[in-house]
Amino acid sequence: MKVLVIGGSGLVGSHVLKAALAAGHQAIGTYRRSPLSGLVPLDAGDAAAAGKLLDQEKPDAVVHAAGWTWVDGCEDDPKRAFAENAEQPANLARLCQKRGIHFTYFSTSYIFDGLDGPYDEDAKPNPINVYSQSKWEGEQRVQQETDGTALLPRIICVYGAEVQKKNFAYQVWNALREGKALTLPSDQCGNPTYAGDIARWLITLLEKRERGPWHLGGPWPTCTRPEWAEKLIAAFKAEGIISHPNFAVKTLPTADLRQKALRPLRAGMISMKAFGGEFESTEFNQTIRELVANSI
Ligand SMILES: NC(=O)c1ccc[n+]([C@@H]2O[C@H](COP(=O)([O-])OP(=O)(O)OC[C@H]3O[C@@H](n4cnc5c(N)ncnc54)[C@H](OP(=O)(O)O)[C@@H]3O)[C@@H](O)[C@H]2O)c1
Repeated sequence: MKVLVIGGSGLVGSHVLKAALAAGHQAIGTYRRSPLSGLVPLDAGDAAAAGKLLDQEKPDAVVHAAGWTWVDGCEDDPKRAFAENAEQPANLARLCQKRGIHFTYFSTSYIFDGLDGPYDEDAKPNPINVYSQSKWEGEQRVQQETDGTALLPRIICVYGAEVQKKNFAYQVWNALREGKALTLPSDQCGNPTYAGDIARWLITLLEKRERGPWHLGGPWPTCTRPEWAEKLIAAFKAEGIISHPNFAVKTLPTADLRQKALRPLRAGMISMKAFGGEFESTEFNQTIRELVANSI
């Protein structure tokens, strides 16, 4: 199988590229602003360039791991959020459908309102902020463009090695060694999920040309940010990272954090379809070992 990853320079996309190659497939990735070696440039808003790339590369599967992921930023600029998270992926899906190419759109458990999670694949979406609305619209438009054949993995709280070093694991690592204070919401829950696991599971789904929503979450759907930070701190210390004496963790309820966008509080996922024994998560300390090894 030949896989084309849109957003190959990002957290999820870079792991998908690695997993595709490790499974013996061909893989090619794109970037927009981070010109990593081996990747080709593509702005997903340029439909002509996208069509040309598809005709040149002739992939069997396209994985859309791109979009605008800054939740508070989306709240300020809904036009950009809907363009990059819904309209552009729908256009790419249409180009793929015309060519008989399987399409994957990465979505999120933020499409749920977080009042009564964790959620399985049958739960009813009710997005409560602009980012989430744009992602839910993205899911629906991609499904329309592909006659329901697109694969929609929903993910949350993703961590792992990445070039931009911006995910929560790096935030904790940096605060720990530099002695910063971390302020975390006490009441936002979700499954910490290793990007390397998502990528492996995705390749299995692609090999079967699966379709529709799949909840791909790690094993702890009710994990709060402070609980996750505690696990990360212990795992980093086990890797020999020394805690700075000024390092501190402060927790506050979401209501007191004054985040621009509303957050779904209990947004964890139950992965009803994926975890029949086939999809196992990597042991937590091993994921941190891999992150540290790939980041220095
Ligand atoms: N990370 C999470 O916890 C999480 C949770 C739920 C859902 N998701 C979804 O998973 C997907 C991947 O997320 P991520 O965390 O890996 O994001 P990320 O690290 O921010 O990476 C985004 C990738 O998309 C590329 N990109 C952005 N806008 C683009 C455009 N207009 N055209 C072409 N490429 C573009 C970026 O390229 P450059 O960097 O080269 O500019 C980068 O490669 C997103 O759709 C996101 O909504 C992520």
